Amino acid sequence: MTQAADLLDPAERLDLDGLRALQLERLRNSLRHAYENVPFYRESFDKAGVHPDDCRSLSDLSRFPFTTKADLRANYPYGMFAVPQERIRRLHASSGTTGRPTVVGYTENDLSMWADMVARSLRAAGARPGDIAHIAYGYGLFTGGLGAHYGAERLGCTVIPASGGMTSRQVTLIQDLKPSVIMVTPSYMLTLLDEFERQGVDPRSTSLRVGVFGAEPWTQDMRREIEERFAIDAVDIYGLSEVIGPGVAQECVETKDGLHVWEDHFFPEVVDPITGEVLPEGERGELVFTSLTKEAMPIVRYRTRDLTRLLPGTARVFRRMEKVTGRSDDMVILRGVNLFPTQIEEIVLRTPGVAPHFQLRLTTSGRMDALTVRAEARPDADAATREAAARSIVQAVKDGIGVSVEAEIVDPESLERSVGKIRRIVDLRERRV
Ligand code: DLL
Repeated sequence: MTQAADLLDPAERLDLDGLRALQLERLRNSLRHAYENVPFYRESFDKAGVHPDDCRSLSDLSRFPFTTKADLRANYPYGMFAVPQERIRRLHASSGTTGRPTVVGYTENDLSMWADMVARSLRAAGARPGDIAHIAYGYGLFTGGLGAHYGAERLGCTVIPASGGMTSRQVTLIQDLKPSVIMVTPSYMLTLLDEFERQGVDPRSTSLRVGVFGAEPWTQDMRREIEERFAIDAVDIYGLSEVIGPGVAQECVETKDGLHVWEDHFFPEVVDPITGEVLPEGERGELVFTSLTKEAMPIVRYRTRDLTRLLPGTARVFRRMEKVTGRSDDMVILRGVNLFPTQIEEIVLRTPGVAPHFQLRLTTSGRMDALTVRAEARPDADAATREAAARSIVQAVKDGIGVSVEAEIVDPESLERSVGKIRRIVDLRERRV
């Protein structure tokens, strides 16, 4: 399927020079806005000896200091806002598994830009005005539900605001209301798959045509699994609350070759996670974002901790980011070897007799850390298949990642199911003092 040119918005039709010129103008304004209205930025720019006027080219951005999650926490709740509270129309907050949550705010214009970016994302995913969109991202302080909701409405879709949870009702809604588009985390899509099967409904028989999956890492093997089991196109949507929410980057359905960053609003850099040096296009490192148009909470060089690389545009002029393979904080260091849950996902999804449900259990064995991959058997897998699957997982981890782990094939439906973002790692290690 090719994208009809008349469906693109004006920024998507810019050439590279036009895009870079627009970015520079917006970047200069945004740095000035941050410096003049947020004491944190004024202090951090002054301390680094830079002024917004020093930004004369896009590469000058690298002279400006980074902003981290710790900076946002230190300024909790409203310290990063650049406009008076009366101009803030909405607040969202990150879940904050450790420490204080981060609060983010939006002006009327920010909400409108966000809806435009999600509408653009949905269009790139293959959705069209008139489609019925089932939204099973959680509604509430999490940006997933409401972010997807207003974007789908902006595109001209009929929205089903299902939110997360009540899985059997979700299946009924999909059968009765006949959505063509579903927006949900990939792990919750698997929970829905189980429920379809439990109810004896063929998941390939639904009206769904496109799934727009994000909020957590997922692999190409997971894409294949979901596409085959549901007979849909599965594309990736990326975003984070500190930058806006979902709709920072989106994969195009016609190419499925990484996510185009909507860089007319969110300027990406990839940096060396240790030295902070900007890396050339194509090299892997930590993704960093600077907002170009946000009013309520401009963000300058925000360290996402997400690991990826930037690639040139294909279906759009905008650069692509490779599928996020993991966050630096999800990385397990097992006896000196770095390991990401997505690497295990690839292995589990390729192992015959095993369902796409797995968990990583970290324990202490003697003075060493040990990792057990716990994966669920498919309902038809007999004891011999299960044993062979466990052996094959251990071997594949040893060969592919270079570390010894244990594997346990557990009964069908015995691992915890996702209702939103899934937790892959269960850390039962003894604390060393
Ligand atoms: O998860 C926003 C979102 C909602 C994106 C719905 C897509 C769909 P936060 O809760 O702030 O916001 O979490 C942001 O989730 O830094 C990544 O680590 C991870 N993440 C988000 N999208 C993807 C993705 C939302 N497509 C954090 N692939 C980010 C991998 C993702 N990781």
